[in-house]
Amino acid sequence: MINVCFVCLGNICRSPMGELILKKMTKERGIDLSFNITSRGTEAEEGCSVYRKAKQTLEKHGVEGDHVARQLTRADIINNDYVLVMDSSNLLDVIRISGGAFSDKVYKLTSFTNRPRDISDPWYTGNFDRAYEDIYDGCERFLDFITAEYSTSLDYDKRH
Ligand code: 4NP
Repeated sequence: MINVCFVCLGNICRSPMGELILKKMTKERGIDLSFNITSRGTEAEEGCSVYRKAKQTLEKHGVEGDHVARQLTRADIINNDYVLVMDSSNLLDVIRISGGAFSDKVYKLTSFTNRPRDISDPWYTGNFDRAYEDIYDGCERFLDFITAEYSTSLDYDKRH
């Protein structure tokens, strides 16, 4: 099992978008049974659903599902193989929450693309389409990396 946790600030826009996009993408590639995918916030809007505009953007692209916002803890960092953050500020916050350890499993999502960058927070920019495109790009490239890295052990689901 490959445990992946997306992290952003509030856990109501970017990281649940990442979670739901990657869940759909792993299903489409027939490898969903090999993944456990979640999301957390460094200052989570605890208990809230995915923000309406983020949900609308996902639905526009056929991405279903919801998420309840939860605060990132040190245990989440310990229990996941890949902690995928959206921007440099998230990265510093995750290092703070982890107590400085486990930095080998914390990556900016876009570090798997050919254009590493911060994914702007649509809560402030209002640009949910841009966030979707950046997160989608990051998820695709992350999965390309994973499928190359774990090519012999991935559990391809024969139902697909
Ligand atoms: P996110 O966006 O980090 O992409 O979930 C935010 C959502 C809410 C807030 C900040 C960022 N907020 O301060 O309420």
